[in-house]
Amino acid sequence: MSNFAKNETLKTILKRRSIRNFKLEQIKDEELLSILEAAKYAPSAMGQQPWHFTVIQSKEVIAKLNEFGKKVFLNSGVERFVEWGKAANFSLIYHAPTYIIVSGDVNAIAPVNDISLAIGNMFIAAESLGLGTVWIHAVNHLKAIDEGRKLFKELRIPEGYEPFGSLALGYNGGDIPEPAPRREGTVNIIK
Ligand SMILES: Cc1cc2nc3c(=O)[nH]c(=O)nc-3n(C[C@H](O)[C@H](O)[C@H](O)COP(=O)(O)O)c2cc1C
Repeated sequence: MSNFAKNETLKTILKRRSIRNFKLEQIKDEELLSILEAAKYAPSAMGQQPWHFTVIQSKEVIAKLNEFGKKVFLNSGVERFVEWGKAANFSLIYHAPTYIIVSGDVNAIAPVNDISLAIGNMFIAAESLGLGTVWIHAVNHLKAIDEGRKLFKELRIPEGYEPFGSLALGYNGGDIPEPAPRREGTVNIIK
């Protein structure tokens, strides 16, 4: 662990890694609620809090997401994604038991930034509780297909809101990946 991990918060931030292997066991409601509370305390432009959290734990809804996600991957034209889409055990969310779509008010000042900060808080909160998370970007592509948009309606994503990010959440079912080395030369301190 880095010499800069001087307190529990810093340790948690440095320890967090994207997890892509989950236990099937569902997370506890109190863990979920703590993570959502952390999200709601993220900063937002002009304090608008323009977010909406859709928590999906239903196996049927997750099956639908996988079906539509597979379609997106197979039609992506990107070889790696097409191969992934063909996998018999394909799962858009790495078989996580909980999936959270975070939508934002498209007319807010900075919904993409606000939603990203809320998700960042969830990642750190989850890590602090011993849970694993990973960003699932494919939600952005589901917006591009009819079935995806219809599903978002069924999930009661509010009118005028659009998914800007999503995450898989659960107990880590595998090893904790090593962090990639940090890129050099990304900081310029001007005094
Ligand atoms: C905007 C964004 C989109 C991402 N999309 C995906 C994704 O679709 N699938 C995935 O497995 N990981 C995704 N990730 C996770 C990154 O791959 C991961 O954060 C990066 O490799 C660094 O690893 P770490 O999170 O373990 O530090 C995404 C991360 C961000 C911030």
